[in-house]
Amino acid sequence: MSGADIRYWTATPGGPLRGTLRVPGDKSISHRAVMLGALAEGVTRIRGFLEGEDTRATARVFAQMGVRIEAPSDGERLVHGVGLHGLRAPVQALDCGNAGTGMRLLAGVLAGQRFDSVLVGDASLTRRPMRRVIDPLVAMGARIDSQDGLPPLQVHGGAVLHGLEATPDVASAQVKSAILLAGLYAQGETAVLEPHPTRDYTERMLSAFGWPIEFSPGRARLSGGHALRAIDVDVPADFSSAAFFLVAASLVPGSELTLERVGVNPRRTGLLHVLQAMGADIEVRPAGEQGGEPVADLHVRHAPLHGIEVPVAHVPDMIDEFPALFVAAACASGRTVVRGAAELRVKESDRIKSMAAGLRALGVRVDETPDGATVHGGPLQAGVIDSVGDHRIAMSFAIAGQCAQGPVRIADTANVATSFPGFVALAQGAGMGLADA
Ligand code: S3P
Repeated sequence: MSGADIRYWTATPGGPLRGTLRVPGDKSISHRAVMLGALAEGVTRIRGFLEGEDTRATARVFAQMGVRIEAPSDGERLVHGVGLHGLRAPVQALDCGNAGTGMRLLAGVLAGQRFDSVLVGDASLTRRPMRRVIDPLVAMGARIDSQDGLPPLQVHGGAVLHGLEATPDVASAQVKSAILLAGLYAQGETAVLEPHPTRDYTERMLSAFGWPIEFSPGRARLSGGHALRAIDVDVPADFSSAAFFLVAASLVPGSELTLERVGVNPRRTGLLHVLQAMGADIEVRPAGEQGGEPVADLHVRHAPLHGIEVPVAHVPDMIDEFPALFVAAACASGRTVVRGAAELRVKESDRIKSMAAGLRALGVRVDETPDGATVHGGPLQAGVIDSVGDHRIAMSFAIAGQCAQGPVRIADTANVATSFPGFVALAQGAGMGLADA
């Protein structure tokens, strides 16, 4: 991106956050709903679909393979499934944009097709490790070429896949899901035994689409040779998007905010427990189920936070929330220690490095370690932050700006549209000081 194209935000303290908000639909569930809807028999209706660049890229990829996807209204999709073997060979490379989830899960689906395909992504995605999905898929019989385990991925069609009992050494829902999706096309049984349980949306959704699957936290097992049947998917609000408001309202005196109908799958809500342990005042009001997922209204009021040692067991359940947690830690009293989170180094950016650099620019002391950091709470000064094109880094520093002693200017914010379109307007509406300039 040339300098002239770089988008900036300026965040300043806006006063208390108040009201009732609904953040956009869950990104993980939206990706999966399009994928399984495309491979199902019949028409899948998705409501609450995330209108983000990542999930739209996944929909475009399936359209390139002959799947008709209608968008009758904002957040709604009708996916005309073509069945497990009905995808058509794409003419061009399949562009996943910024989305690691899109590319890794698609690698599993494409490994089982009769045709060749090429998966590409943007500059950030092209730096992200794919060996973690290539290796198990190749062990299942797939043929995938890459250079040094990085995108683009050339997936060769016509491979005969066989089931596998996979024991990935990294706790990753994307890796688990790629293996399970390839398992739909494999002969025999495919199982994944995880080192630590991760989000189970693929398992839940396969079951809802009628595919026989056994799963429990950290374990999943299915066999090939069945069919997916179209369903209606009602996507809950994304906990990871709600997280920025949970932190902002906790930090700004006088705040009182309700986040409506947020997905609270236990594999996503680690941040809730950690913020509560830091002293946050967050009430979880269960609101039933939506699309087979537990949802709740989250009621948050300002409360002074203190630093803690983040329990390593919570790390996978809050893996996307560390940028927001780092801001909470910077504004808390005392030290917050994060360990066991080396995965943060291979997200949309190296999130330990980008958060440490940004917080230091605001005068906060951060001691980095290979798998985490110690953040020393203290006053935040004005400063200029480079979000390095990482959506969650940009939104985290918008929150930091609510507590800083002067303006926080944030560069390279365009990628916020990958996961949270409308963030600036929603944040302004809640009372945050944030300008798109
Ligand atoms: C996701 C899994 C997580 C998460 C990502 C979405 C998913 O990645 O960070 O934002 O939808 O499966 P890993 O599986 O690499 O931990």
